Amino acid sequence: MSKKPADFTSDQFSLRVLDETLNGEVMTIRLHASDRFSTKRHLLERKTFALFTRAMEAYLRKRPHLDFEHPKNHIRKIIYVPPALRAWAAYMPGGFATFHVHNPDRKKLRSGKKIDYITRNLFRHSSDAIGLRSRAYAMSWYLQGIYKDEAKLRWMSIACGSGQPTFDAARLFDGEKNFYLCDIDKNALALADELAHEYGIAKSSVHLIEHDLKRPGVLEALVVDAQPQIIEAMGLFEYLDEGEAVEMLRKIRETMPKDGSFVFSNMHADHPQLQVHKRGLGWPGVLPRTSDQVKDLIEKAGFGPNQLTILLPDDNVYAVYCIRA
Ligand SMILES: C[S@@+](CC[C@H](N)C(=O)[O-])C[C@H]1O[C@@H](n2cnc3c(N)ncnc32)[C@H](O)[C@@H]1O
Repeated sequence: MSKKPADFTSDQFSLRVLDETLNGEVMTIRLHASDRFSTKRHLLERKTFALFTRAMEAYLRKRPHLDFEHPKNHIRKIIYVPPALRAWAAYMPGGFATFHVHNPDRKKLRSGKKIDYITRNLFRHSSDAIGLRSRAYAMSWYLQGIYKDEAKLRWMSIACGSGQPTFDAARLFDGEKNFYLCDIDKNALALADELAHEYGIAKSSVHLIEHDLKRPGVLEALVVDAQPQIIEAMGLFEYLDEGEAVEMLRKIRETMPKDGSFVFSNMHADHPQLQVHKRGLGWPGVLPRTSDQVKDLIEKAGFGPNQLTILLPDDNVYAVYCIRA
């Protein structure tokens, strides 16, 4: 990778635009994101872990019959040797699991279990971890490009988990911010409340909303009530089947304000270590999709192609879909 200067730098990450392509009316932007774990200091660990995980992926690809539970699935057994990873797996697929990967500098899991050397490095350098953080950086970069000078921002995070990617992204905006954090999991919301305090966000600016967003009437009512300029859903769409995804997009189209944006991610079908993710780690229930498949869902929900920008971090783990009202 050539050493061109970054197009955007914050305290947390830097980002370079690799290319922009107009496919029909849809703008696709390929990006390269770097953070504190992409520096020279971490190079040896990053390369070593990449070698190991690539070998595991090749092994699983050659053995499609070895599902996660298969007694001869040696990759699962190797992955779960580190004690902290075994403890962490209990959090999958919820917001506590992503919380530790968004910030792998924490010394202990939420449960108090010490994070060992291998687990910490998987949180820093595995393909899933790199992609989880780059999707958050891509979302932050895109939104700050539109709203950074806004004096008052209403920000809704649906399936917010710990709220950490939301709070990190919001640091790029100087104006007054109000957060509407929605999740089905009350424990994740309690953590989001704690984190908001850690980030120095006033209690009165944080609205915690415990709901199943798939239930009829729920999402529409929340959006109509909050009138958020920003709605983001990181890490939700890959758990929705086609009908649920189109329904959720349609509800957002019908209710989002005129100056609004909706940004969401979906795991990419080209994830370079998808077999390790599914059959090695055993992360449950994910439906990876190509950008064309997601574009079709977006169009089925009634959005025009000219409303969509697709951000593709070059790690290929997730794509981020940005829709303007
Ligand atoms: C993988 S986590 C993503 C959390 C966070 N957005 C992030 O990027 O780290 C997915 C979150 O979606 C929430 N969730 C799943 N289904 C939901 C539903 N039907 N309604 C509301 N929240 C839901 C889970 O509780 C979990 O916190």
